[in-house]
Amino acid sequence: AELDKWAKKAGLKYFGAATDSPGQRERAGYEAVYPQYDEIMWESGEFHQTTPTNGMKWLFTEPQRGVYNFTEGEIVASRANAERYVLRCHALVWHSQLAPWVTATNWTKDELKTIIHDHITNVMGHWKGRCYAWDVVNEALNEDGTYRSSVFYDTLGEDFIKYAFQVAHETDPNAKLYYNDYNLEYPGAKVSGAARIVSMLQNAGIHIDGVGLQSHLTAEGHPTIDQHIDAISTFTRLGVEVALTELDVRLTLPATPALLAKQSQGYKNIVGACAQVKGCIGVTIWDFYDPFSWVPATFAGQGLPLLWYANFTKHPAYYGVLAAL
Ligand code: XIL
Repeated sequence: AELDKWAKKAGLKYFGAATDSPGQRERAGYEAVYPQYDEIMWESGEFHQTTPTNGMKWLFTEPQRGVYNFTEGEIVASRANAERYVLRCHALVWHSQLAPWVTATNWTKDELKTIIHDHITNVMGHWKGRCYAWDVVNEALNEDGTYRSSVFYDTLGEDFIKYAFQVAHETDPNAKLYYNDYNLEYPGAKVSGAARIVSMLQNAGIHIDGVGLQSHLTAEGHPTIDQHIDAISTFTRLGVEVALTELDVRLTLPATPALLAKQSQGYKNIVGACAQVKGCIGVTIWDFYDPFSWVPATFAGQGLPLLWYANFTKHPAYYGVLAAL
């Protein structure tokens, strides 16, 4: 029952899982399971797409100004290319996991534009021709749809978004350029904000190809399939594609059969919505193996958000996903 095979039958381009270079994984001490992990990641046929969870972020790729390091990102990218996996590349301009030097100085507008330019041309340039898509700008919005305060917005206003997409298109004209954010999976002010960004770029004649719905959901309170379809359609109506870029459905520990059933429904709703809307092109889960998820370290008391348990058996939600495809 390979997820990718069924996703393709349902009209999607891919079903994939993000993965990390071993040195950056959330949990150390798991070396013994790497062969089993790698078998599912690269050989089982479950996935045909990946995203490096951390290695392409600013903190790793330009830790000091003008000093580039592609080692961590390359570990995942080179394997993905060798396996002919679709590679989503993540993320160029983001306020988080930014190298400290970027926020250590009060840059003028021109200085910050040069910094953005150099970062995008070098990082995107390094992987040129190898990324199906790039998350050019990540998480620029607050929940109410206004712009989030960051070194980029506070210095340049919304021009930082225009500039980043402009430079990205010049650097790798064949990569799909995405705006990526969370809580875009159901209608509301944040979806309107992201739609505004898409229109702003389109009206300025700047290239944008897609909106990434991170899709970090909760088992207890996930949206309905109709809400997902509504949100996804808001973007596809603007003529851009949509991808679920970081899907996970966390639950409050300890897991119970009832919670696992809700988790399964959560996965089924969003994957089903994506499969039903033409223009929603693919699904990426944010790793597939619970011990390597970011959730326990980020959300106190929550966990087990993925499709494979620590002992490599599958969650009920795996079959929820299959039922949606
Ligand atoms: C997370 C990673 O999974 C963690 O390993 C890291 O410590 C923090 O970032 N939104 C994003 C992702 O766009 O890059 C984040 O990934 C999760 C939230």
